[in-house]
Amino acid sequence: MSMTTLQDTPVLAVGTRGASGTHTALKGDNLAHLQQLIEQGQRYDFVLLDPPYNTGTNRSTYLNVFDGEQWATDFGRRVEASWALMGDDAVMLVTIDERSLHPTLKVLETHLPPHHQQIVTVRHSPAGQAQRGFRRTCEYLIFVHKGAMAPKPRTLGPWWNIIKEGSRSSAGKIRWNSLLKTGQNHTPASSPGCFYALRTDGAGRIVAVGDAEDWQNLSDDSTLIYPVRTDGSLGRWRVGVERARYLHSRGLLRLGRSGTVSYACSGLVDLIDRGDVKIVSYDDKGAAVLADQRNLDELTALPGTLWDAKSHSYSTYGSWLLKKMVPGLSFSHPKSLYAMEDALAFYLADLPQARILDVYAGSGTLAHAAMLLNASDQGSRSTTSITLDDGSFDVLTARLTAALTGTDRLGQAVEGAYMYPDRGLISSGLVGTLQLEPQ
Ligand SMILES: C[S@@+](CC[C@H](N)C(=O)[O-])C[C@H]1O[C@@H](n2cnc3c(N)ncnc32)[C@H](O)[C@@H]1O
Repeated sequence: MSMTTLQDTPVLAVGTRGASGTHTALKGDNLAHLQQLIEQGQRYDFVLLDPPYNTGTNRSTYLNVFDGEQWATDFGRRVEASWALMGDDAVMLVTIDERSLHPTLKVLETHLPPHHQQIVTVRHSPAGQAQRGFRRTCEYLIFVHKGAMAPKPRTLGPWWNIIKEGSRSSAGKIRWNSLLKTGQNHTPASSPGCFYALRTDGAGRIVAVGDAEDWQNLSDDSTLIYPVRTDGSLGRWRVGVERARYLHSRGLLRLGRSGTVSYACSGLVDLIDRGDVKIVSYDDKGAAVLADQRNLDELTALPGTLWDAKSHSYSTYGSWLLKKMVPGLSFSHPKSLYAMEDALAFYLADLPQARILDVYAGSGTLAHAAMLLNASDQGSRSTTSITLDDGSFDVLTARLTAALTGTDRLGQAVEGAYMYPDRGLISSGLVGTLQLEPQ
């Protein structure tokens, strides 16, 4: 099959802020489309599978009621075909809730070659959805990594509620760690090199680090501090004596008022050595006074496997946003625009020309997120979105047209602004070209 060029395909809309990035909408059963894309030799960097969750709702529009085996068989075929469409270094994202998590993991295990995967729990419904028992607040993003593909740190806004190591947002200041190793079984015998005394003078300054037997002629006001656990038994320190002496020589061991000892962990020492954190003076006990030199707004980080950001609310930034984009059309359970943009950005920030495939595209949240990401970093990532039927195809094309032009299907400017972070009015439009399935 020959490759189709943009000139051969009907263009539906062009972004008011530029035409960068091509977005293709395909209608019909995704398995047939996947097979066609394989025949064409297409390759993608990021593939999303957001299948019907088999919850038994919306039978007519959602094809959502299968017996478990049929669901797994159908889904497995699509997972296999999607894998074949991924480049050597690429990521597959599968989204699912707890009711179908187990069958989904089984499908991935059965239908994919050995791979690295991570499950992220995303709080998509802060208020929770009523169900039998506990309210449902979360669903799962399963990231399947092919080749060397991995998420990369990026700037995370305060809405992520992330504790950044060493940042003012975690403890209001740079963090020193407790020198006492906590937890069971950390006895002097378990790590003899980490059992030693610290000697202090009458003013409460640490003056020496090492075995007390080396210290002759202790003055009356000297005190020896050993690692003593809360139950009174002897424990051990976190670092060996040589490291502790080195930290002490730099003022990076600190004796607190209550007699607890803290130290600068290797991450903090690295920051000091790089000049990101400065020693501005020493306090009256000889401990370094540190000042963070970094612009904390620009710190990059990877979040953990629990995403608890208000920008990921599916009702506010999924359903409600979609209603504004496509007045009069309905679609249930779109993802949060910003959750999808985040998922893309962790993998594709340094791939501005990445190719993205949305296998169960529904309302086209992923393509919209790619347009927003492109507009934000001058990328030209392209997307291919497959929708099943006329209803979802109409929603998808209306939504992506509104995203590009800033004007909805009734000719009204779409209200509201892009957020997380603020990126201007939705009515200003985005970048990209929306084309239909090549004829
Ligand atoms: C969970 S929704 C996807 C929502 C989408 N991620 C969004 O944010 O709008 C699943 C979609 O898959 C579609 N679907 C189900 N079976 C399909 C198939 N065989 N081929 C293509 N789409 C299918 C359904 O119609 C539904 O729109």
